[in-house]
Amino acid sequence: MSTTIDLDDGRVARLLANFRSQFSRSATHIIRAPGRVNLLGEHTDYNGLPVLPMAIDHAVLIAAAANPDTAVRLRNVDETYPARDYHLASDIAPFGAGDWGNYHKAAAQGLYTTRHGTLRQGGDFLVDGNIPAGAGLSSSSALVVASALAMLALNDIEIPFAELAELLPDAERYVGTLSGGMDQCISLLAVADHALRIDFFPLRMRPVPLPSGYRVVVCHSLVTAEKSGTARLAYNLRVVECRLAVRACEVALAPALPRALRTLGDLANLFPGRSLPELLPAVDARLPPRPLTLAEIARVVGTSPAQLRDGCHIPGEIGDHFTVLPRLRHVLTEAERVNRAEHALASGDAIAFGALMDASHASCRDDYEISCPEIEQLIATAKESGAVGARVTGAGFGGCIVALVDASAVNSFLELIDRRFYRPRLGNGARTTAHRFVFQPCAGATVRRLDA
Ligand code: GLA
Repeated sequence: MSTTIDLDDGRVARLLANFRSQFSRSATHIIRAPGRVNLLGEHTDYNGLPVLPMAIDHAVLIAAAANPDTAVRLRNVDETYPARDYHLASDIAPFGAGDWGNYHKAAAQGLYTTRHGTLRQGGDFLVDGNIPAGAGLSSSSALVVASALAMLALNDIEIPFAELAELLPDAERYVGTLSGGMDQCISLLAVADHALRIDFFPLRMRPVPLPSGYRVVVCHSLVTAEKSGTARLAYNLRVVECRLAVRACEVALAPALPRALRTLGDLANLFPGRSLPELLPAVDARLPPRPLTLAEIARVVGTSPAQLRDGCHIPGEIGDHFTVLPRLRHVLTEAERVNRAEHALASGDAIAFGALMDASHASCRDDYEISCPEIEQLIATAKESGAVGARVTGAGFGGCIVALVDASAVNSFLELIDRRFYRPRLGNGARTTAHRFVFQPCAGATVRRLDA
């Protein structure tokens, strides 16, 4: 347990005072869980392939105190998030779709009974988040992580962060998104001044230094893409398309495969030392790149549409058009880019890293189709304004771009972005600092027990 939450920090002090006035008692714990920006490796995590995020200094703070029974009172300093009450139980019914309280319930449900103990005490929780929502900076997973840590602390249950990083992605699927494990892992286990290369199934991490003399700049496209809202379906469709790609790979690579594939990441295990994009032509020969119906894909993989739907766990809300080959191409080339990026960063080669960011963006835009016109305008503006590399970050469909910028040029970069992107959209008097940020890589989550 770390004690790095500074009680003299204005935001922390205000939160604790606010807790006292809301609940007429003092908080016993304060928790901080950071958001993240993903530098490379987009939509690879749920495929069991690597990612390269870093934690940011925008975070969810929760002040909390236990209740003697299972009652949970959840409040937010931002009153646009209404008060929510519920009880801990083995089967917690969600609030309505898209409700912010579901992220707390996701943590409670996921942790209700663990091998380390059962959550028996609810509590009062006051949340203060300053990660912009729907921006691709993982505000929702930071809320899940902070909620989980708060409930564990109130119940005197200790779970190693590495174990929580395995547990919480499953827990978060309670909200209906089929997300991977990057966000929870980086929020829990980030290392200050480093990005983290994360591999999955099993979870492994390696700190990676960022090139000195460069800054990570994040700019919001002003299009929000709520993970619990409309972006959810588009995200889930990508996950399903990758599951279909797994089946297509099994058929296309059959003679060389010793066993069935669980994820695309298995290809990296089964063909060690081989570059994954080299496997593409075999699949290419069997599958046209256009959107296909389930019946068409079933024919290629030699099964029935019903069996394919069942085997790939395709949710009923997903329709009958699947783009498989381009999604596969993105995932396999993106994994390769993460490998190369790690080497580029290890040797301090910012220019090579920037080129990989640009290539990742092109692949996200053309093959994974997670960009939108505003993101494209922002990427073009960032490149014209001197970024060494720039790409959409997070799930996409709006949200933010991340750019690598020479430290000595950051101020002029921000001025140009303001002039060329924000002012025409927000007006000359707008406070642009709420939309673009220069981030330092921060450490992961912390829990602090407060003296009585
Ligand atoms: C969201 C998900 C992550 C990851 C990214 C895309 O943030 O929560 O698991 O899939 O999208 O890389």
